[in-house]
Amino acid sequence: MTQTALHYQKLLIVDFGSQYTQLIARRIREAGVYCEIHPFDMPEQAIREFAPRGIILSGGPESVTEGMTPRAPQVVFDLGVPVLGICYGMQTMAAQLGGRVEGSDVREFGSAEIRRERNTALTEGMGFSGESTLPVWMSHGDKVTVLPPGFSCIASTASAPIAAMADVTRNWFAVQFHPEVTHTRDGQRLLDNFARRICGCAGLWTAGNIVADTIEQIRRQVGNDRVLLGLSGGVDSSVVAALLSRAIGRQLTCVFVDNGLLRKHEREEVAAAFSPNNTLDLDLRVVDASTEFLGKLEGVTDPEAKRKIIGATFIDVFDREASTLNDVKWLAQGTIYPDVIESAASKYGKAHVIKSHHNVGGLPERMKLRLVEPLRELFKDEVRRIGVHLGLPESLVMRHPFPGPGLGVRILGDITPTRADVLREADAIFIHELRAADWYDKVSQAFAVFLPVKSVGVVGDARRHAPVIALRAVQTTDFMTAHIARLPFDLIEKVANRIVNEISGVSRVVYDVSSKPPATIEWE
Ligand code: XMP
Repeated sequence: MTQTALHYQKLLIVDFGSQYTQLIARRIREAGVYCEIHPFDMPEQAIREFAPRGIILSGGPESVTEGMTPRAPQVVFDLGVPVLGICYGMQTMAAQLGGRVEGSDVREFGSAEIRRERNTALTEGMGFSGESTLPVWMSHGDKVTVLPPGFSCIASTASAPIAAMADVTRNWFAVQFHPEVTHTRDGQRLLDNFARRICGCAGLWTAGNIVADTIEQIRRQVGNDRVLLGLSGGVDSSVVAALLSRAIGRQLTCVFVDNGLLRKHEREEVAAAFSPNNTLDLDLRVVDASTEFLGKLEGVTDPEAKRKIIGATFIDVFDREASTLNDVKWLAQGTIYPDVIESAASKYGKAHVIKSHHNVGGLPERMKLRLVEPLRELFKDEVRRIGVHLGLPESLVMRHPFPGPGLGVRILGDITPTRADVLREADAIFIHELRAADWYDKVSQAFAVFLPVKSVGVVGDARRHAPVIALRAVQTTDFMTAHIARLPFDLIEKVANRIVNEISGVSRVVYDVSSKPPATIEWE
């Protein structure tokens, strides 16, 4: 990634494959410090060139007591910068620096009480007082049993006498628990201490600085060229639009394609949020291609076939619209940092699933355009923060994710205009009631699904056989796993009553109570 003044003070996070690695990075960013995640087999020379002010060794699923398991590159200890090992990171530090790590029959997973054994800059300001303990989150099998030379024990728990250790002269620290997890009391303070006090980084990584820096970078990258953006109304592409518009004004053209599978009022909302009389001034072209999309989807029931048709039609429509513009050189995309990490994952790391969801994937090659991806180094929460900073409406910035194929993967089986209308209405009722009950922001994603089964119902004296609507609401941090949202029954009942009474083509409503895994979030 392009490094600017904003990136001079940065930390390196060496990834050993923990599910929490991205969380560590997000917390360091929250401390106002830029950091990047790289796999543990990052070449030594690349680490030197990266020139971090400090290094964090992440947790990981392996055991250092077994051969052929990952180790930190030696250069980590040769650079003379502060190091913080977390969980596996602590164990590999102990093993590499001359201590001892032993396996244990029982895995410690969950909350533990930690006692401070010695005061250091790392734990300064955490809520310890006297003999008191603090709750921390543990998830480990092995533990350090012998300190490496130069280290002392700085904290302990009942089952891990060496739960944290430090060599304060070299600024090397290690903790067995997970400070990045919210169950660890004052964990953010510990990470702040490391990034700011121990590594000496100032808190430069703020929404205002990120925006200013990104705008500079965009201007340098594209110069006077014209840029094209497929605006979907989702958070990422909306923030890209806002950034580019600030950076290059009317050199940007946004194309919004209505595929007939959008949520209720989506097209109007996007048009309103990006209309030139708003704070932004951009060239927005709204293309109504719903007839074309729905026509091509007629009679198609296979979910992957639907996705392919929707993706290919999008490219056709977008390409056609773009060909009416002269000399476009760049295509803007809302790629965010987790996508970058996933595609660069180490071949030794845990299996990362690369999403096959990109509906504009083939565009840059086909259109011979270069890519501008201003969100490449940002996490979703940072994208949201800068969206707010750029003045985008809260309702747009905080909205739930919506899949590229839209309602197309929420109408099971055959997609027809009538089914799309029924689902759009049902979804709008559900989302409206969630907002009214203050539940919208408490769930990560919520939507209605159209089930093409005929179920019986009674309207007045007559029986009717009509389709079923399923409601789905989940809570998740990464969308890889998800739990159902425990919505109040009163709320579900209200939504169900409204849907059955207000939409003539629905006989009943069910609530999906499946977790992911094994169920996915979407139904198709
Ligand atoms: P699943 O259903 O795989 O969904 O548990 C995880 C997240 O990905 C979204 N999703 C999609 N997004 N195109 C997209 O752009 C797709 O084809 C697609 N399928 C699922 C889903 O909404 C959830 O946020």
